[in-house]
Amino acid sequence: MSFLDQLEPVREAALKSFAEAADLAALDNARAQSLGINGAFTALLKQLSQLPKEEKPAAGKRLNETKNILEAALAERRGTLELSASLPKIATDFSLPGRRRTAGHQHPLTQVTDDIVKSFRKLGFVVADGPEIEDDHHCFDALNTPADHPARDLQDTFYLAGGSRSLLRTHTSSVQIRVMEKQPPPIRIIVPGRVYRRDNADATHNPTFHQIEGLYVDKNVTVSDLKGTVEFVFKQLLGDEVKLRFRPHYFSYTEPSYEIDFSSALVRKMGKDWLEIAGCGMVHPQVFKNVGYDPEVWTGWAFGFGIERIAMIRYGITDIRMFYQNDVRFLSQF
Ligand code: DAH
Repeated sequence: MSFLDQLEPVREAALKSFAEAADLAALDNARAQSLGINGAFTALLKQLSQLPKEEKPAAGKRLNETKNILEAALAERRGTLELSASLPKIATDFSLPGRRRTAGHQHPLTQVTDDIVKSFRKLGFVVADGPEIEDDHHCFDALNTPADHPARDLQDTFYLAGGSRSLLRTHTSSVQIRVMEKQPPPIRIIVPGRVYRRDNADATHNPTFHQIEGLYVDKNVTVSDLKGTVEFVFKQLLGDEVKLRFRPHYFSYTEPSYEIDFSSALVRKMGKDWLEIAGCGMVHPQVFKNVGYDPEVWTGWAFGFGIERIAMIRYGITDIRMFYQNDVRFLSQF
């Protein structure tokens, strides 16, 4: 057999052994068998010097080509095997719960909202939702709010351009109407959500803020149900030593209506005895009529309070604007 005739089978055997190597150790072995000191290819290389002078150039060229081919195949196979060695042996189930906490955490307003929702859930309330772009029927008329009410003033409310009746909701009370229009009593809902008013931003006002609305409709519902519920939730949220006070007030969608004042050590630290935190009352019979409920059969209460206000009391924050600036130095404290 001529020298070059021996090269072909050595090359084929080497390529096959590389391709079949199942792991890096097997590949090292295959390399030693061909390109190593005692390898088959190396043996051929050693014979080169013994060839007749005129055969040497062609043989040398072929050997070189073959060596390049073998080394390229080896490197490629090594890359493939290294990659699969670095992959996990068991398929990853991305739906499993994480073991480590994710980076970052929830915004203080989200934390307060979640805690309020949790307390109400214990009492059988469910979360309801409604649109932030509302119409004046749900935001005002159905809530028995007369056309000359100041909240409907252009100065107070963001109306959408084009003379439509669309506006950014000024309170979450609109969702009371949406829910009652859709389902019959009894009802037990809370509605956390964003609201909008034409306020200039200062330490205690912002043109957009968050409220939680509550609505309870059933037979024989009384003011003491309202007081008991609100007290339960606030004590869970802000501690047993907090005090609440119900002060007579006026809202067009409740009768009687109250404002709820709140007192605690933190409020006194802020230099006040009482801080108003919510509006509430017994659902006005006209509101029931507007959604097709019989006010002779059904009774209910509703309330709405500002989430920022409660978060400020809870954490002792004196400027509402801090909630929206997303300054990490502020947010990372919660
Ligand atoms: N909607 C009122 C506000 O934006 C808060 C409120 C008062 C909600 C009385 C109610 C209620 O459901 O009964 O200030």
